[in-house]
Amino acid sequence: MTPVIRPRRLRTSPAMRRLVAETILAPADLVLPMFVADGIDEPRPISSMPGVVQHTPDSLRAAADEAVRAGVGGLMLFGVPDPADKDATGSAADAPDGILNRGLRALRDDLGDSTVLMADTCLDEFTDHGHCGVLDDEGRVDNDATLERYVSMSLAQASAGAHLLGPSGMMDGQVAAIRAALDAENLTDTGILAYAAKYASAFYGPFREAVGSSLRGDRRTYQQDSANRIEALREVRLDLDEGADIVMVKPAMSYLDIVRDVAEIADVPVAAYQISGEYSMITAAAERGWIDRDAAITESLTAIKRAGAGIIVTYWATEVAQRLGCVSGAGLAR
Ligand code: PBG
Repeated sequence: MTPVIRPRRLRTSPAMRRLVAETILAPADLVLPMFVADGIDEPRPISSMPGVVQHTPDSLRAAADEAVRAGVGGLMLFGVPDPADKDATGSAADAPDGILNRGLRALRDDLGDSTVLMADTCLDEFTDHGHCGVLDDEGRVDNDATLERYVSMSLAQASAGAHLLGPSGMMDGQVAAIRAALDAENLTDTGILAYAAKYASAFYGPFREAVGSSLRGDRRTYQQDSANRIEALREVRLDLDEGADIVMVKPAMSYLDIVRDVAEIADVPVAAYQISGEYSMITAAAERGWIDRDAAITESLTAIKRAGAGIIVTYWATEVAQRLGCVSGAGLAR
């Protein structure tokens, strides 16, 4: 009746729990995804992601400044072109004055090397059919023709100031193609954050609104099937062999086993992307009073880090970084 071993002893107070915590979130772990849109005068709310907006260039700069001052580890920029500028090959993606490249340039001018500036290297925001690549005569996504577009986009993003490129289209050979092109241009310091294991997910739903996606159909011929785990390890190994500097798993919460598996084999930093649907689910449940918002956010991020991701892309990056920055010993005394 009287246990000798009492694990509860280490849970008796906030200070004791802090002392023995195995996983501690830090502001620098968190990367903020941001959307910059062409042709808007005011930031435009994204209704399925309350609290997230499509930025104007000015509001982008202000929000980036706030994030960097909160201590986030980096910024990941997505471009939302004017719908009239979308076409079959996503020309606005590599145009030097395309919205994403303009946004990158503005942020690099403002922030220099004080943060890590990342770019989404993918065509889906820029194509009129909404796919991540160009299509062949039969309407299928053409892998190798798409690589040429990614190379051109990468060079444009690197010269616009991105420190890290984020190829997210799951084309075979994309990391090798981009690495070779960067090196040929002497852009050897520009790194690649590879979306190595990216699954076709229903949880991307709100992102489609966030970028005004034109997609009909789905991405199941290039993104991974949620049934598969070993395939993810193969994708990661390929990206490492092709020269990825960081590998990412996406989405995060429904794929924590994959994050753990990848952390075990990767000898580079591992990132995970807490995607739009994960943000929206927690936000919606909290709005209804069904869960404690702040506690759920912290728990979700802690779980992703505990699973093995040292870098977490999250729409809450600024808010959580600010909150973490305010945690003090005095705050625990009670
Ligand atoms: C593709 C891309 C997507 C996301 C990031 N990059 C959409 C997709 O693959 O369908 C989703 C991010 C999110 O849902 O938060 N460029």
